[in-house]
Amino acid sequence: MKLFLDTGNIRDIEAYCAIGIIDGVTTNPSLMAREEGDPRAITKRICEIVRGPVSAEVLATDAEGMIREGRDLAAIDPHVVIKVPFGKAGVQACKALREDGIGVNVTLVFTPAQALLAAKAGASFVSPFVGRLDDVATDGMELVAQIVEIYENYGYQTEIIVASVRHPMHVVQAARLGAHICTCPAAVIEALFKHPLTDVGIERFLRDWAAAKGARP
Ligand code: G3P
Repeated sequence: MKLFLDTGNIRDIEAYCAIGIIDGVTTNPSLMAREEGDPRAITKRICEIVRGPVSAEVLATDAEGMIREGRDLAAIDPHVVIKVPFGKAGVQACKALREDGIGVNVTLVFTPAQALLAAKAGASFVSPFVGRLDDVATDGMELVAQIVEIYENYGYQTEIIVASVRHPMHVVQAARLGAHICTCPAAVIEALFKHPLTDVGIERFLRDWAAAKGARP
């Protein structure tokens, strides 16, 4: 499973890309609004760092506006993927941008029917928001399971990005279901590394070595 970072923060992107486990980045207007500086320059810099798909979201709400904005964003860098919100306008824009050869991520997907329509429009990626469903007492990962089943039934090439990820178990569940990608805030990536027994184990190895040899290596 590919891991994307769900952030517009350059420092976090640099730090986790340096480790070698990040395959792409997703941003959205809420995330970009937190960052200082020109959003186009930030998007370009993210592309230079990650060298994988980087989702940049349109702000337009009509299909024509989304297509215009999408073409403009796509000109920033070949790695840019245009994120369009699900809806009639978003699906129409997805179809048109894909015909231009531009990658599209259909976002704000909350039902399997929406994911089916995104795939039919040729979306490169679809983003079901699991955390926001969990927030309203609906099983977000069940949505992912249904999308995986539907896409497998028909061989759709659209890659599933599990989004709105809140904790490490979302990542584990996404991988068990066979989702292609999980996009995570930096805090969730950080949590994936942690286990107290790993820390205790390292400390014990070093202590045992020091006790036997008189000094740490
Ligand atoms: O990728 C979409 C994601 O950023 C939404 O996350 O936590 O705002 O529901 P959240």
